[in-house]
Amino acid sequence: MDTATTRTLRTGATIPVIGLGTFGSDRYGPEEVAAAVRGGLEAGYRLVDCAAVYGNEAAVGRAIAASGVPRDDLFVMSKVWNDAHDPDAAVASVRRSLRDLGTDHLDAVFVHWPFPNHHAPHASVEDRDRTARPYDHAAYTALWRALEGLVDEGVVRHLGTSNTTVPKLRLLLRDARVLPSLNEMELHPTFQQPELFGFCVDNDIQPVGYSPLGSPSRPERDRTDDDPVDVEHPTVLRIAEAHGVHPAVVCLQWAVARGQVPIPFSVKPEQYRANLEGALADPLTPDELRAMAAVDRGARLIKGQVFLWPGATSWHDLWDEDGTIPGGLA
Ligand SMILES: NC(=O)c1ccc[n+]([C@@H]2O[C@H](COP(=O)([O-])OP(=O)(O)OC[C@H]3O[C@@H](n4cnc5c(N)ncnc54)[C@H](OP(=O)(O)O)[C@@H]3O)[C@@H](O)[C@H]2O)c1
Repeated sequence: MDTATTRTLRTGATIPVIGLGTFGSDRYGPEEVAAAVRGGLEAGYRLVDCAAVYGNEAAVGRAIAASGVPRDDLFVMSKVWNDAHDPDAAVASVRRSLRDLGTDHLDAVFVHWPFPNHHAPHASVEDRDRTARPYDHAAYTALWRALEGLVDEGVVRHLGTSNTTVPKLRLLLRDARVLPSLNEMELHPTFQQPELFGFCVDNDIQPVGYSPLGSPSRPERDRTDDDPVDVEHPTVLRIAEAHGVHPAVVCLQWAVARGQVPIPFSVKPEQYRANLEGALADPLTPDELRAMAAVDRGARLIKGQVFLWPGATSWHDLWDEDGTIPGGLA
């Protein structure tokens, strides 16, 4: 991996500028996702974004082994789900991910969501955990301490946050011994999160962009009527035509130029190959990058309604939009 295709983290380790997502959601089962991981590694991807809750780490682990790519050339990440926030459960979850992915270390482990609220796979946005609680910094810190222990042990190389906010990151930066190296966040042209993105960069936290194409095939339950479609935005279409590529590729070229690490998902070889090749070739011009910056609409797609606690009013309560943490125990 050379510097044109990697970014350097706070530890000095490098991470590829683009990776492969592995969340098959309702549409793609473990073996289809695993086949895409194997094909993606053969096509040149070196970063794989996994998670315990995706339910496919064992199949993905077999695909990684079958690819024959040396482990040291790969950056493999996993995440701890909400049912494993208790410190012992978190450690057990990471050890299971290590075993399933067939590796003696993970390059990064993320806390998938900062809320310890149960959310069953495929839950409808109306579903609620009646014992759900708002963010609890003492509980989050206890979880983080457990993950720090895994870094000390050498089985995890970097820690990361996901679906977090500036106020929550400020608390973590104040209290963590092993600082977060990465933050996985929703990032696509119509949702650029400039404040959180800037905060991460200023604090040496590498942003990883999930749903980088605007998740065009997400399930109906994750859609609302006024959600924009990134790959149909007129500016994205105009730039795609100028470069002779699919609009999805423009989203990735913009992401790489801006400095986040996009992790597009696809099980279709023509798509995941085009995504990798396109993201690294034929950069957008300064004028095109300015036009892409103006595409932002602050349009969050993954709103997180299922994490709401009794008394919370709307999904906006999850994202600390006024700079404070609702009900938060700091
Ligand atoms: N940390 C978190 O909480 C979190 C949340 C969400 C996602 N993620 C991670 O981010 C990854 C990506 O997010 P995502 O899957 O939501 O969204 P995405 O990557 O924005 O969209 C994926 C979909 O885009 C379509 N696509 C991909 N490449 C294309 C191309 N070249 N041309 C046309 N269409 C293309 C495919 O649709 P078809 O299948 O219909 O062809 C694919 O299923 C996930 O797999 C997961 O690893 C993390």
